[in-house]
Amino acid sequence: MNQKPELVPASNDRIGRRSMTSIPRKFRSILSLNDLEDAARRRLPRPLFGYVRGGVEDERAMRGNIASFENYVFVPRFCAGVNGVSAAVTLFGESWAAPFGIAPMGLCAMNGYRADLAMAKAARDNDIPMIISGSSLIPLEEIVKENPRAWFQAYVPPTADKLQALLDRAKAAGVETLVVTVDSPVGSNRENNLRAGFSSPLKPSLRLALDGLVRPRWLVGTFARTILNHGIPHFENLYAYRSVPIISGTVQREFGGRAHFNWDSFRNTRQLWAGRLIIKGILHPADAVEAVKAGAEGIIVSNHGGRQLNAAIAPLHVLPAICEAAGDVPVMLDGGIRRGTDVVTALGLGAKFVFVGRPFNYAAAIGEAEGVDYAISILKGEVVRSLAQLGVRSVDAIDPAQIVARGTLNTSVLAKDAKREYRGQQVGQ
Ligand code: FNR
Repeated sequence: MNQKPELVPASNDRIGRRSMTSIPRKFRSILSLNDLEDAARRRLPRPLFGYVRGGVEDERAMRGNIASFENYVFVPRFCAGVNGVSAAVTLFGESWAAPFGIAPMGLCAMNGYRADLAMAKAARDNDIPMIISGSSLIPLEEIVKENPRAWFQAYVPPTADKLQALLDRAKAAGVETLVVTVDSPVGSNRENNLRAGFSSPLKPSLRLALDGLVRPRWLVGTFARTILNHGIPHFENLYAYRSVPIISGTVQREFGGRAHFNWDSFRNTRQLWAGRLIIKGILHPADAVEAVKAGAEGIIVSNHGGRQLNAAIAPLHVLPAICEAAGDVPVMLDGGIRRGTDVVTALGLGAKFVFVGRPFNYAAAIGEAEGVDYAISILKGEVVRSLAQLGVRSVDAIDPAQIVARGTLNTSVLAKDAKREYRGQQVGQ
């Protein structure tokens, strides 16, 4: 991006205020990740926007994810000398510039032009991880070429030969980290997709055409440009071979049936995959224990952004129990993260890292790589500010005792700690 907002000045000795003039003109209506949703609503045809925004059934789980963060408050400390505050973290021995990455999302390239590549580029330029979706419309090889540190998410195919072939393909492409998503044993009941006219593949109809025609910026900037340059997009990464097209009146998507998947399937995947293996979609501490026993090197606590099970618990609520169950295995989280304070809340409750989905999808639809870059800068700036306001200079220094569930704060504990600290200082004098 030519005109990167100075959220965190290079000198890093002060955390700057934002001014409108420092924000590229086209993004001036977007000051937070939440603002991206409305901008995407105006940009995208109804069925496509509905697919990204929506959750399952009554969207209880999706709303619960957002609400779970509201449940926590910070007890900041000041006069802490927070010059040089940094959002950088180390995960699996690798360093990243921020404690968040881009969650895997299918079909992104229907919304933004070559959106997976845009995300890959922005993630690379900002030194954060991006997870390529098994349901994406761009071959994983092209995405890894753009961003060699990208991770790849797979839905484990139902047969051993298909699994082996997919893993061989990922390895040949240079993928080092495989994420296996396990939270979708059956297709979910997304009534909102039916109402919005979305299906996968999309069925050509007069209504679909009209939905596209009233969104000329998308029609020209994403749809026509994609078809002219690359033909009709297909599901590229479900198997070792190209799968069905995204628009078809007759073809059914090869969902493959994921009901077969069990711990033996996961152990089998572990045996076949020599690289790093992460499991995504764990919500029960007992499953975290199973995952670790089966060789998972990382766990992403997730309810798929509230898109699978209406009544699923919010990942944040089960995070501490899963961290305890997982022992030394790093636990990560996604679902409902929209603010730097949400990131810090999850880290304070034990997550080593978090992922963000929908906002980056919208950002790619609105502004391609530049849009994703801008969204990353917003969230990173908020993380840095939140750390500084908490009174710490790095993610490692977050004190879990400063992040408390509303109404449960035992102030006398904090007071006792404070007295102990004071006495300790006097003894040290
Ligand atoms: C997803 N998600 C998802 N997860 C996955 O493992 N494989 C996939 O292909 C997809 N596809 C997908 C598409 C879209 C449009 C969305 C919004 C989500 C779930 C995703 O990885 C992540 O768990 C959630 O998006 C996190 O919640 P937030 O940040 O969107 O609230």
